[in-house]
Amino acid sequence: MITGLVAEAADLALEISVVGSFSRLGAVVRRRTAHWGPLPRADGRRIVITGATSGIGLAAARALAGAGADLVLVGRAGPRLDSALAEVLEARDVPGASVRAVPADLSDLGQAVQLAERLAALAPIHALVHNAGALATTYTRAPGGSEQTVTVHLLAPYLLTEHLLGVLQDAAPARVVVTTSGGMYTQRHCLADLEMSPADYRGPVAYARAKRAQVVLVDEWQRRYRRSGVDFFAVHPGWADTPGLRHGMPTFARWLGPALRTPEEGADTLAWLAAGGGQPVPGRVWLDRRPRLEHRAPWTIVPQAAAADQGAALWAWCAERARARTV
Ligand SMILES: NC(=O)c1ccc[n+]([C@@H]2O[C@H](COP(=O)([O-])OP(=O)(O)OC[C@H]3O[C@@H](n4cnc5c(N)ncnc54)[C@H](OP(=O)(O)O)[C@@H]3O)[C@@H](O)[C@H]2O)c1
Repeated sequence: MITGLVAEAADLALEISVVGSFSRLGAVVRRRTAHWGPLPRADGRRIVITGATSGIGLAAARALAGAGADLVLVGRAGPRLDSALAEVLEARDVPGASVRAVPADLSDLGQAVQLAERLAALAPIHALVHNAGALATTYTRAPGGSEQTVTVHLLAPYLLTEHLLGVLQDAAPARVVVTTSGGMYTQRHCLADLEMSPADYRGPVAYARAKRAQVVLVDEWQRRYRRSGVDFFAVHPGWADTPGLRHGMPTFARWLGPALRTPEEGADTLAWLAAGGGQPVPGRVWLDRRPRLEHRAPWTIVPQAAAADQGAALWAWCAERARARTV
């Protein structure tokens, strides 16, 4: 166990190095520090996880099933959802805890609305985890007309959160957790550049902008709903060896190889926050159970007053698009 000043210094050194922080090294060292502990018990806590069929979402669901949570696994209909359900049922440590699978393709906002209605019927909901995501290398127009990357990472989470806010409030203290990415550190948020057109679409840039915008939206939710009993968190999983990473960034995944985190290590903070660990710190991104820097490059920083305006504008942008795409 690493304690006191040595633990703080080790954590800080990792944080400054970036690679040390995001790679497996960060997870391995930090879990030996004194602020770490077992995942809190989550008995009786109902947690919804999107992107639960694979990688980080599936690992989080397995960990939470082992901590006694009631789980709702959201994924696209098909054998991957069926096998995720079987795996998570297998990981349960409380035989009576409920684990359900609810199908939805989150690139289709019509399906997201139906999902929200099905989820509302499963109240109480104590935590809603927006983890579904992918780096799409080519432009795809989602059903309804928006580009797929912004639809899956922003519009669907916006729609689900707003639809379920009352349900979450009824279960307060409740949480919304969003899986962002270290890619967002490369981007300054600019609403005008967020949704890329087919002509200028570059998958990694579209993905990084959407991940930056997720953090802006989390900040806005926290500002807007700070007295609701619902708290909002952005989580960065580090670099984890998942099917999504290997498919979306194959060269990077090969290059890092054994330095990648396991899916379980990538999922740890997400599961820990969903289970009720930690305290809300608005305007922060969490990694390895601590709030971390929201910006690493000076050119991505926006003055505080402008940040609030940006958040409000993004929220209104999501509202307008979600409304237009679902009528
Ligand atoms: N792995 C990393 O190092 C890393 C780093 C930073 C951020 N992240 C983020 O972590 C999250 C999980 O990614 P992962 O690495 O675990 O990748 P993964 O193994 O590919 O898992 C992605 C999950 O998202 C789901 N998903 C994707 N598009 C969807 C859609 N249109 N509708 C419904 N579900 C959809 C997938 O469902 P299907 O099974 O139906 O495809 C799958 O369950 C993502 O948000 C990703 O951006 C990962």
